[in-house]
Amino acid sequence: TPKKAPPMEGDVIVHADAAKYGQPVRVSELSDKLIRAWPMGKDDKGADVIRDGDPTSVLAVFRFPKGELKDPTKLDATIDGEIVVYGDRCTHAGCNVDNGTAPDGRNIMNCPCHSGQYEPREGAKVIGGPPSHPLPQLPVKLEGDKLVVTGFFLSVPYGYNKEEDWEKYT
Ligand code: FES
Repeated sequence: TPKKAPPMEGDVIVHADAAKYGQPVRVSELSDKLIRAWPMGKDDKGADVIRDGDPTSVLAVFRFPKGELKDPTKLDATIDGEIVVYGDRCTHAGCNVDNGTAPDGRNIMNCPCHSGQYEPREGAKVIGGPPSHPLPQLPVKLEGDKLVVTGFFLSVPYGYNKEEDWEKYT
């Protein structure tokens, strides 16, 4: 069903938090603290549908000053080298990843379940805890003031079967 479908080209990125649920995420709201989001597409009648029916579709959106995003972030899948979107489901056991703070005070991503840590400036690589691989980056572009998905995740998200699900969408 459209609600359980994964993020796909043309989807608009909308807020997941209750206070702004379903509203498009705006560039002016973004910072180095994650905003949790869902992709929003259309059903077969052309009505908006928030794809919140599969926990693997949950997203985290960041904006960093120019130059802070670096390898292995895929810069051509970011907006202007500043705005980046990742899948927000921990690759260890599937919890939602939240904000965290590194020892030097910078904002990073921290998983509340077993303290997995990811560096959102560097492709959401693992910098602490049990996860074995990074969060998947989702390619996006700007359309007006909306963040729009341009394709599927760039690596395998938690819960996907590499052979079946992955090949279906990529
Ligand atoms: Fe995230 Fe275990 S589920 S560290």
